[in-house]
Amino acid sequence: CGIVGYIGDKEAAPILLSGLKKLEYRGYDSAGIAVQEEEGIKLVKKQGKLNKLNTAAENEIFNGVTGIGHTRWATHGKPSDRNSHPHTDSVDEIVVVHNGIIENFSALKEALLAEGKEFTSETDTEVAAHLIAKYYDGDLRAAVNKAITQLEGSFAMAVMSKAEKDRIIAVRKDSPLIVGLGKNENFLASDIPAYLDYTDDFYILENEEMADIRQDKVEIYSFSGSLIADKNSTKINWSSEMAEKQGYEHFMLKEINEQPESLKWLLQDRLQAGKLDLSESGLKSDWLSDYDKIHVVACGTAYHSGYLAKYLLEDMLKLPVEVEVASEYRYRNPLVNDKTLMIVVSQSGETADTLAALRLAKSKGADVLALVNGRDSSIARESDMVLYLNAGLEIAVASTKAYTNMVAAFYMLAVDGMRQRADIDAETVKKYTNDLIRLPELSRQMIKQSEEKIKEIARSYAEQKHIFFIGRNTDYTLALEGALKLKEISYIHAEAYPAGELKHGTLALVEEGVPVVALGSRTDIFNKLFSNLKEVKARGADTFLITMEGQNYEKESVDHVFELPQLNQYFAGLLAIIPLQLLAYYTALVCGKDIDQPRNLAKSVTVE
Ligand code: G6P
Repeated sequence: CGIVGYIGDKEAAPILLSGLKKLEYRGYDSAGIAVQEEEGIKLVKKQGKLNKLNTAAENEIFNGVTGIGHTRWATHGKPSDRNSHPHTDSVDEIVVVHNGIIENFSALKEALLAEGKEFTSETDTEVAAHLIAKYYDGDLRAAVNKAITQLEGSFAMAVMSKAEKDRIIAVRKDSPLIVGLGKNENFLASDIPAYLDYTDDFYILENEEMADIRQDKVEIYSFSGSLIADKNSTKINWSSEMAEKQGYEHFMLKEINEQPESLKWLLQDRLQAGKLDLSESGLKSDWLSDYDKIHVVACGTAYHSGYLAKYLLEDMLKLPVEVEVASEYRYRNPLVNDKTLMIVVSQSGETADTLAALRLAKSKGADVLALVNGRDSSIARESDMVLYLNAGLEIAVASTKAYTNMVAAFYMLAVDGMRQRADIDAETVKKYTNDLIRLPELSRQMIKQSEEKIKEIARSYAEQKHIFFIGRNTDYTLALEGALKLKEISYIHAEAYPAGELKHGTLALVEEGVPVVALGSRTDIFNKLFSNLKEVKARGADTFLITMEGQNYEKESVDHVFELPQLNQYFAGLLAIIPLQLLAYYTALVCGKDIDQPRNLAKSVTVE
C-alpha cells in the first residue's frame, strides 16, 4: 500500500492525488483521500484504480490544506469502496490510513465491539481508528502513542483528527515512511518518488519513530515519547524525470531500455583502473576466507537472481551456497553461524519477508551483505554491508533493470572472490573483469537486435494457454525468471523446468504447437539441453532456442532462434534474459493487458 500526506498553504487534494499517482505501483486495488475542511473531514474513496478516485474527487469541492491519502493492496477485506482507506471511527473524529497488518486485530475488534463501537469495514485498520478515538483527549500525538502500544504487527500510519486541523501524526513500525520538508508546507509518503517534484529534503523515519507534522515544523519522536532533536534530513539528488515514462508507452519498456545505462551505473564506481574494488560496500579485500558457506535469501525476481548466484558462486568460489525464498527461510531454523555470509537481495529494500530473514540470520551471528536498490531502505540500513545496485528508480511492477543489476552484482562478487583464490591466476581474473566491462555495450546490442524478432514471436504466443521454459544450470534460473515475467503481465500460464526433468511428468502437457523456450547460454551442457529440446520437438512443440553465437545445432528442430554475442558462459545469462523480458512485454501488449500494473500484484510488498 502507499500512504501520502500534505499540510501547507496550498489545496491539499491535488497534491495528495499527484503523490498517489507516483505511488500507485505499491498497490492499486482501491484509493482514497481525506481532507480537513471547514465543516469537518471530507473523505472520498473508491474501489479500483486511481482514475476512479480522480473522477470521484472531480465531483467534490475541496478547499482544505491538510490531508492524507492511500492506495491499497488488499490484505484484510476484499477490494471494495467500504474497505478502502482512509478509515474513521464511528463519529468521524479520527481518520487513519495504514500500510501493514495489525496481527491482533480480531481480539481488539471484539473488545471494541463489546464497548459498543460500530464497524463499517472488514479491515484491520478500522480498529486503529477506533482505538485512537478512544484515547483522544485533545492531543493527537498522545492518543496515537497510547493506541500503538496495543497494536501488534507491522504498521505505517498517518492520522488526522477533526479537532486539530493543522496536524498529521505519522508512525512507522516495520513499514516505510518518509517526510518531505518544504517551505510553509510538509509532505508525507511511503516512498520518496511521491514528492520529488516538491522537495529534495527528506526525513527517513526509522523503525518505531513518529512524526508530528505541521505546516511550519516537523518533530520526530520515538515510540517511548521522547523528542529526537538531532534527527538529520537526507538530500535526495534524483530528478523527478526518472519517475516519468519519457515517451515510452510503459515504464516496463523504458526500464528494459535503460539496462545498458543502469549496468554502467553499477559498474563504473566499482572499477578502478580495470580492477574491481568493492570496498565501499564494506566487504574486506580478503572476505572469502572469513566464511565457510553462503546463504542467499530473497523474494520473487530477486530470488531468481539469487538462484543464479548459487550455481555461479559455488562454481567460481568453491563455497557451498544455499538459496531460499525469504518467506520459507524465516520460519525454519537455518543452520547459520559467524562463518556464514548471508546475502539478501532486494530491489525495494523493504520486502517484509526478506527483512525478517535478514534479522534472523543476523541474530544467529551471520554477516549480512545486502544487494539492494533502495537507498537508505530498511534492508540497507539493517545489513552489515551494502552493495547498492544503482539501477535508479524502477516503477513497473515486473522488475527488469533491477534484476539485471542484481545478476551483474553477483558477477562482481564472483570475480572479486575468485581474485582471492590461491589457485586462480591474475590473467583469469582479468579476463572475467574485462567481460564485466563489456556488459553495458553488449546489453545495448541485445535490445536493438531483439525487438523486431521478439515482436513477431509474441504475436503467436499471445494466443497460447501454456508456455514452457526449460534450461539447465544457470539457464534454468533464467527460465524461471522468463516464465515469471511472462505470467505476471500476460496472465498466460508459464512454467519453467530444469530441462532434464521435463520427461518426468510435464512432458505430458506438450502437444502440437505448444511453445517451449529453451535457454542454452551454457556451452558446457548445451548438447544435453538440445536433446531435451528435440524431445519436445518430437511431440510437436513450437521451439524457441536462445543460445550463443557459433554454437552448432540441428536447425530443423528449432522454429525460432536468438543468438547471443560471444561471452563467457557464466555471464552470457545476463544477455539471455533481455529477449525474455521483451517477449513478456510484447506478448502482454498483444494481449492488451495492463503491463505496468498487473492484477493482484504490487511492487513493494511490506507485509508478510
Ligand atoms: C514483489 C514484486 C516483485 C519482486 C518481489 C521482491 O512481489 O512484485 O517484482 O521481485 O516483490 O521485491 P524486492 O523489492 O525485495 O526485490
